[in-house]
Amino acid sequence: VELEQKHSSYWIDSTLSPVYPKLIGRRRFDTIVIGSGIVGLTTAFLLKLAGQKVALLEARKLVEGNTGYTTAKITSQHGLIYDRILKNFGQSTARLYAQAQQSALNLINQWIGQYQISCDYGLASASTYTQKDTCLPDIEAEVRATQQIGIPSRFVSKSDLPYPIKGAVVFPNQAHFHPRKYLLHLASLVNGDGSTVFENSRALYYDESSSTIEVKTLHGTAIANHLVIATSFPVFEKGFYASRLTAFRSYALGVYVSDPIPQSMYITVEKPLFSVRPQPTDKGTMLIITGLIHPVGHQIDTQQCYQQLEKLTRQRFSVKSIDYSWSAQDVSTLDGLPYIGPYYPYSHRLYMATGFSGWGMTNGTAAAMLISDQILGRPNPWQHIFDPSRLSQLKESGQLIQQDVHVAKTFIKGHTSPAQPTKPLEPGQGRVIHRHGRQLAVYHPPNQPPREVSAQCTHMGCIVNFNNAEKTWDCPCHGSRFSTNGEVINAPAIKKLKSADG
Ligand SMILES: Cc1cc2nc3c(=O)[nH]c(=O)nc-3n(C[C@H](O)[C@H](O)[C@H](O)COP(=O)(O)OP(=O)(O)OC[C@H]3O[C@@H](n4cnc5c(N)ncnc54)[C@H](O)[C@@H]3O)c2cc1C
Ligand code: FES
Repeated sequence: VELEQKHSSYWIDSTLSPVYPKLIGRRRFDTIVIGSGIVGLTTAFLLKLAGQKVALLEARKLVEGNTGYTTAKITSQHGLIYDRILKNFGQSTARLYAQAQQSALNLINQWIGQYQISCDYGLASASTYTQKDTCLPDIEAEVRATQQIGIPSRFVSKSDLPYPIKGAVVFPNQAHFHPRKYLLHLASLVNGDGSTVFENSRALYYDESSSTIEVKTLHGTAIANHLVIATSFPVFEKGFYASRLTAFRSYALGVYVSDPIPQSMYITVEKPLFSVRPQPTDKGTMLIITGLIHPVGHQIDTQQCYQQLEKLTRQRFSVKSIDYSWSAQDVSTLDGLPYIGPYYPYSHRLYMATGFSGWGMTNGTAAAMLISDQILGRPNPWQHIFDPSRLSQLKESGQLIQQDVHVAKTFIKGHTSPAQPTKPLEPGQGRVIHRHGRQLAVYHPPNQPPREVSAQCTHMGCIVNFNNAEKTWDCPCHGSRFSTNGEVINAPAIKKLKSADG
């Protein structure tokens, strides 16, 4: 199967990129927020609304992290999560989780009206469905669980998809939007009156004293009372997050079809995951199809993932054209609930949010609401269920050990894998080679000589793998990604890959 599409995110392709300055010199603020995804920008805006002066530091350009590559369904339906939360944590946690998501949905809806944000916002129901009889009991259990905690869900056995389904759990009155149009508007509201949005200002390290926090970038220092780490996988390892988080990648296509357009948003129960939602565009309604999933850096032939997603799409829809393809990553936690709150136990200055397991539009907005309440000293009922050092972690200590063993094995395998065959690289190919006791990541760009950087990830030293679809170096341990020049694309890494002779 040949892909016809451009290899870029529709959200980035369909919006202009505003320009914000770098942080230069020493600047004083009330709070520093690192990262310009949905968590960072929503937190910054909430704090500014509360009268704070905020610095938002973005390492690269605004909203070009995972939020620039999402599917952007805004829904409290997160697959079949409520039955699982009820069974694992009980009714109170399930209710609070649902309340957090619904409050996030309401806040987004409210701001879009209040600030007249033009962002293709549309209401739609959300459905998690199955095409297999064997999965029907899971759907029915989810309907029961959601009704038990007061979510107005229903069971259906028909849909407006052009292929049959066995059954679905439906949440009415959910939504979807253009995440960059929404967040770039928020950024313009954050900037000004003593608050500043900075681009190309990577946070390199921080210093915490008894009264302030200083964050250093290449050209400047921001000083504040509070720091929010909103970098998806958290930077600055303090809290054993590397042992408690898994980064996974997933794939998306922007597709025009000749079938009647489904009005709802859909996702399968069964694997491979297949998600559909409509998106209005200049050329008519495009379907955004997302699916497949694998831990970052573990799938060597990532081009094959796009091909598999295209195949699944063509089996289900009459495809007129595939205009876009992109992929993105997110992070999951040991117990399946996000980590939102103090960065390390009892910290009153540093906060973080991560682990949205593919549902960051509502979880990320709820995270901003919770963190801004914590910084402002306001009570918030969700703080215990999302507390990054919650006691349920103890139950997952077995999983924690497994994750550490997995990372240790990946580390050892990367460092001891046998030397590669010396066959020259074709243009467009990349490979890790051994030379003089070092492992080098070598990429051969078309029409240029091969370029080499160190293959050792700057986060904790694992050996990166080549991602042949995106032409990046991806770390199998915690999901850092680097360009073929070694520049950091995804946290937790902060520093670029060393030069081949460095
Ligand atoms: C394919 C796919 C589809 C998805 N679909 C949905 C969906 O339909 N609905 C939904 O709710 N969720 C969805 N998600 C999940 C959602 O996209 C994410 O949970 C969310 O975007 C994460 O937002 P964030 O703000 O935490 O991180 P990001 O958007 O990744 O933002 C982090 C930012 O931090 C910056 N940064 C990193 N390090 C530094 C540093 N040292 N200094 C300064 N800046 C730094 C990065 O450059 C980046 O801009 C999907 C995820 C995937 C992978
Ligand atoms: S991301 Fe942790 S070692 Fe590479």
